[in-house]
Amino acid sequence: MAGLVSSNTVAPGETGRLDVRIDPIGKKGKVTKTVAVYSDDAAEPKQILQVKADVRHGTRSASGLRMEKVLFSARCKSCHADAGRGQKGKTLYEAICAFCHGVRGEGVSTHPLREGTDAWARNWIAVGKPGTAMAGYSKKQGGPLEAAQIESLVDHIKSLSRRRD
Ligand code: HEC
Ligand code: HEC
Repeated sequence: MAGLVSSNTVAPGETGRLDVRIDPIGKKGKVTKTVAVYSDDAAEPKQILQVKADVRHGTRSASGLRMEKVLFSARCKSCHADAGRGQKGKTLYEAICAFCHGVRGEGVSTHPLREGTDAWARNWIAVGKPGTAMAGYSKKQGGPLEAAQIESLVDHIKSLSRRRD
């Protein structure tokens, strides 16, 4: 999120101030986000700024907030839960898991998928882990997924581990 807080017009040679915010929820470690600044400058109408942060406890909160309370809330669920409604396997994975784990399980920001047993993967998906960005996706946990959908994800993840490198 960014906005010009000084004034909407910056004369040549003058400076303007930007207000940039990063939402740390779900992030951990080094985070780089880019901000595009558009202007009517003839030579450089678009400038890309990089904002770097080192998030220590972006996935935690003093109240022990669980990720499902955030990710499946009204503000976030259209993309992070509803996008996978009625889907299974690869399609479901790519709709709501690849955000963090990458299409091939390679990990987007910090979380590649490790290898493990079916029971281990099933439990992670259904229950999640408090204090991390991994929400519990089962209905019981307050998540959007039916048991059969979770099972289809366990299978899909296995096919990814086999194909990696
Ligand atoms: C309009 C769709 C949309 C909504 C609404 C939305 N997200 Fe996302 N989210 C995305 C997309 C697309 C990505 C992957 C692209 C990216 O990383 O910028 C993503 C990525 C993420 C990531 C992981 C990537 C990273 O930057 O570390 C987290 C965590 C996340 N969203 C949390 C949230 C939370 C919390 C909310 C509600 C406050 C929310 N999202 C609302 C679409 C959405
Ligand atoms: C907002 C980011 C985010 C989303 C979306 C997400 N995960 Fe995770 N997931 C994580 C994080 C972070 C961990 C590791 C937590 C830890 O080890 O501290 C994790 C761990 C896991 C693990 C087990 C541990 C490992 O490292 O392999 C599995 C399996 C898993 N996720 C599957 C899924 C599936 C399937 C989905 C989609 C239904 C999903 N995740 C959606 C962030 C996310």
